Amino acid sequence: MSKYTYIFHGTAFSSHSPKKINILKDYLFFVNSNGIIEKIADPEHEDYQSLLAAYEGQENFHRLADGQYFLPGFVDLHVHAPQWAQSGTALDIPLYDWLHTYTFPLESKYADLAFAKKVYEDLVNTLLANGTTTVLYFATVHKQASLLLAKICAEKGQRGLVGKVVMDDPEQNPDYYRDADAKTALADTEEFILAVKELAKTVKQGVYPVVTPRFIPSCSDEALKGLGELAAKYDTHIQSHCSESDWAHSYVQERFSKHDAAALHDFGLLGEKSVMAHCNFLDDHDAELFASTGTAISHCPLSNAYFANSVIPIKRFMAKGIDIGLGTDISAGATPSLYDNAKQAVVSSRMLEDGVNSALPAEERGVPDSRLSIHEAFYLATAGGGESLSLPIGRIQENYAWDVQIVDTKVPGASLPIFTENEALDDIFQKVMYLIRPEHIREVWVQGEKVHSRS
Ligand code: GUN
Ligand code: FE
Repeated sequence: MSKYTYIFHGTAFSSHSPKKINILKDYLFFVNSNGIIEKIADPEHEDYQSLLAAYEGQENFHRLADGQYFLPGFVDLHVHAPQWAQSGTALDIPLYDWLHTYTFPLESKYADLAFAKKVYEDLVNTLLANGTTTVLYFATVHKQASLLLAKICAEKGQRGLVGKVVMDDPEQNPDYYRDADAKTALADTEEFILAVKELAKTVKQGVYPVVTPRFIPSCSDEALKGLGELAAKYDTHIQSHCSESDWAHSYVQERFSKHDAAALHDFGLLGEKSVMAHCNFLDDHDAELFASTGTAISHCPLSNAYFANSVIPIKRFMAKGIDIGLGTDISAGATPSLYDNAKQAVVSSRMLEDGVNSALPAEERGVPDSRLSIHEAFYLATAGGGESLSLPIGRIQENYAWDVQIVDTKVPGASLPIFTENEALDDIFQKVMYLIRPEHIREVWVQGEKVHSRS
């Protein structure tokens, strides 16, 4: 009997730092029964040849074919699961109108568990097929449907962090779709937390309850305060939207005479396990509050192009030491792919740096030093997401979970444009990031279990 559950052999890309990737060429990866990478051996390792000889040919030994690579599974820090049903539509009006015209009517339908099951199963399958192994989800206000989403993640092998959404303010939310009142919202949230913690006892890859005030405008003070207390009581993750758009940011300033960051902090909602979506309008003081409390930013570049009225200065916030990851923000971002969002993070940052109004002289047009490289965007989609959630994921490294996607650059009929022998692996990495489609993602593993396969 082998000491390891699986042994993999091949070339992997994993972040060394935001700017630099490690290229692990022809390494051996040893995965234990808990799905953790217990040992890694490079070809120079003194035992490499003997390990290879010992394990090669065994049933639990997997060697990548020529043209295939391991990447860490992606960490999507912001998905509205119910909105999958309207992805690719409803992108024509500003945030407040979008919520009331399209989104709240759709989300209200998840009182129907049969509808929820249909959409949520398809979404989890789709995200896995796109290489996403961990997801921080907003569900809906409905306790049962939210729990169903956690169960579907558990069954399909995805690491799901799931929030029952709280939106109790009768002024801001329609009668047909909100919590009855703050007390009910808090009681439902507590029951939800306990139910997910119970479910988690039997789930190898982990499922986690998340305290989820939708955003400040949707919640009463009583609910916000109570949610901060519940998060502390049960040591849960916390998620919300923060300073997303001109309207949302100024609403909070009018209500509390302060920015979202300070208001969320006052309610006990910022901390190591907090992840705030968007954060486009953080000022330096807010950013320092994020860094000092360990609060992470979920950067959703495609969504921001539609709803955030601005490009967030990610480079500046990275320099301040804030944990940052990427989110699709389905359905404000229409795609389930973090590859698409990594590319958009690069593009948006380049437009921020250069500026967009060609009537202005070049030196007045943009914000200097704003550009992100594709390597940095990859970091956000992987290691940055893991750090944001304070989980050992997002890197192909010892003591991290074996959460990987196996991409094939030589899929018949869809080969990537690699035409020279021994092309530099860093160039191949960039082609992977820019050109991979779900058809190239041959296998996806979470915590040492194969959860998706095209072979
Ligand atoms: N702010 C409050 N709710 C939402 C939502 O569902 N999507 C986005 N992008 N912003 C929000
Ligand atoms: Fe969102």
